[in-house]
Amino acid sequence: MTSSRQDASRRGATLITGCGSGIGAATAVTLAAAGHRVVASVHSFHRMSELAERSAEAGVELDVRELDVTDAAATAACVADVAAAYGSLRAVVSNAGVNRFDTFERETPEDYRRLFEVNVFGPVALIRQAMPFLRASGGRVVAVGSIGGVVGLPFQHAYSGSKFALEGVLESLAPVARRLGVAVSVVEPGPTATGLGGIGDRERLDAESGPYREALRQYTANAARVLPGLPSRQPADAVAAVIRDVLAARDPDFRYATSPAGAAFLARKLPDVSGRATADLIESWLEAPAEPRGTQFSRNANPPNRPGSGPIT
Ligand SMILES: NC(=O)c1ccc[n+]([C@@H]2O[C@H](COP(=O)([O-])OP(=O)(O)OC[C@H]3O[C@@H](n4cnc5c(N)ncnc54)[C@H](OP(=O)(O)O)[C@@H]3O)[C@@H](O)[C@H]2O)c1
Repeated sequence: MTSSRQDASRRGATLITGCGSGIGAATAVTLAAAGHRVVASVHSFHRMSELAERSAEAGVELDVRELDVTDAAATAACVADVAAAYGSLRAVVSNAGVNRFDTFERETPEDYRRLFEVNVFGPVALIRQAMPFLRASGGRVVAVGSIGGVVGLPFQHAYSGSKFALEGVLESLAPVARRLGVAVSVVEPGPTATGLGGIGDRERLDAESGPYREALRQYTANAARVLPGLPSRQPADAVAAVIRDVLAARDPDFRYATSPAGAAFLARKLPDVSGRATADLIESWLEAPAEPRGTQFSRNANPPNRPGSGPIT
């Protein structure tokens, strides 16, 4: 990294959610090591030992703050405080998330609400609060989605539903935000070696799964080995490195797999894995039609305030 790029990244802060453990902890440390001024928000100061260990090991400095992403007022205050303390907000990484693994008939509407609060409404509130600051800085949004946000995975109805919802919101926002100078991307990890909860009380689930039991047993047994087509488990650091690279990209795509196998899995469903071609088409809807009228819209290659002029390293 050149020193001028390093200097650029030192203006303003990068705010990450859910940094107490897993991908969030790895991302906080990776971005700090890459020169970001990182505000690492954790759900609770009582559950951040992984972050403390990782940051001590790497010898990086983090500004750790407590934030429950389901608390909209606290989220608004946190975003404003960070922007004021650091002069600007350069990027937001929405990482906090919860999982649930269950049979469809055991899941209650409350289970769906709980997951959507953390995985959808929290991130949407965060990004909405951050947008004015990101417009001012020409900043970035990166949300941690999931391959389960593109392909519905068995026994993860609420989780996949929430990740689909988040991705839909952000896919809708991305082309418009791009014209306002803010790049919006979703990083889609496959299985990652973290403590992301889900199965809970295995024995009880097995006992109560009724007609779903056989499929559930087979699925979990197969998943413990290898599921054909599904990428194998990767370390949280590998996902963090992808997030770092997305933030450093001059003109980031909308969607990123976190491994070649993850990209191949997404390509089973998506002809446009990166979302680039779709975003370009949709962006053309936001422009004046090319002359003469009635011919195909052409994409303005250099819209005003287009993100990418100041990569975040
Ligand atoms: N692990 C995977 O296989 C995988 C695959 C695809 C996508 N992802 C996504 O990656 C992201 C990070 O998950 P992870 O795998 O790193 O698991 P993780 O270690 O459990 O990390 C999730 C973090 O989110 C925090 N969190 C939960 N509820 C929160 C809330 N209301 N407010 C703020 N923070 C909250 C958790 O804090 P507490 O523990 O203190 O509640 C935890 O630190 C999630 O969005 C997840 O969906 C994970």
